[in-house]
Amino acid sequence: MRVVTNTAITVDGKIGSARYDHVAIGTPVDRQYMSVLRARADAVLVGGRTFRNWPLPLVPDPAALAALAASGFPDAAHPPLEGRSWWNVVLTRTLDVPKAGRFYEDPRVRPLFFSATAGEVPKGEVVVGEVTIPGVLAALAARGVETLLVEGGGDMIAQFLAAGAVDEIYLTICPLVLGGRAAPTVVDGEGFPFDAAPRLSLGHVNRVGDELYCRYVVQK
Ligand SMILES: NC(=O)c1ccc[n+]([C@@H]2O[C@H](COP(=O)([O-])OP(=O)(O)OC[C@H]3O[C@@H](n4cnc5c(N)ncnc54)[C@H](OP(=O)(O)O)[C@@H]3O)[C@@H](O)[C@H]2O)c1
Repeated sequence: MRVVTNTAITVDGKIGSARYDHVAIGTPVDRQYMSVLRARADAVLVGGRTFRNWPLPLVPDPAALAALAASGFPDAAHPPLEGRSWWNVVLTRTLDVPKAGRFYEDPRVRPLFFSATAGEVPKGEVVVGEVTIPGVLAALAARGVETLLVEGGGDMIAQFLAAGAVDEIYLTICPLVLGGRAAPTVVDGEGFPFDAAPRLSLGHVNRVGDELYCRYVVQK
């Protein structure tokens, strides 16, 4: 399975403020590009905290895709959307997640929770047990997922990188500085020893206004 991550970051690598609330770091163009990456995936995955902050359908927005293509953005191509649905995957220890709202109402969303705690959700499936990245990948492969988009947060991306599971890292570098030792970064967790740090090569970089859209390939 191909695993890609996508994150909007500040110049100092932050993905949110120290309050861990939802903040829009990128411009509307970044939001539109998020739809492209979702359209190229079969499944979109977030951690429990990111889902609580933004419990919306993790699916492409046709209007955003059309606007991005019309703007001449250099990497706007995507497969057709007609008739498709997307696994929307949430990893949680607590299953302390919203139990109502658009996430459960959108017919394109196939909710799939991997949870260490048993419980009910209004639609979709809860896979209960110890949540490990290899286990999640195996379960997604068994459901036919070929491309998984991990949207964060930093805790989640750190675990996928530590498992050696990430193939590509998409970053939108946005022109602001949030700072703060306690603010989440694109890769949190314990960190890597320098010798074991994942090494990357730059696949492409596109500039739109003051934002840089980068694709890095993880060297295996
Ligand atoms: N700028 C961006 O592009 C971007 C993208 C995503 C997120 N964000 C922001 O970044 C911050 C996210 O912070 P974060 O890194 O703490 O959040 P996160 O990665 O979304 O979520 C961490 C949560 O994931 C669950 N989790 C992690 N490891 C698990 C495991 N092995 N088994 C089961 N569940 C596991 C737990 O959920 P439970 O607490 O439910 O048990 C944990 O609290 C938020 O402020 C968010 O809004 C920004």
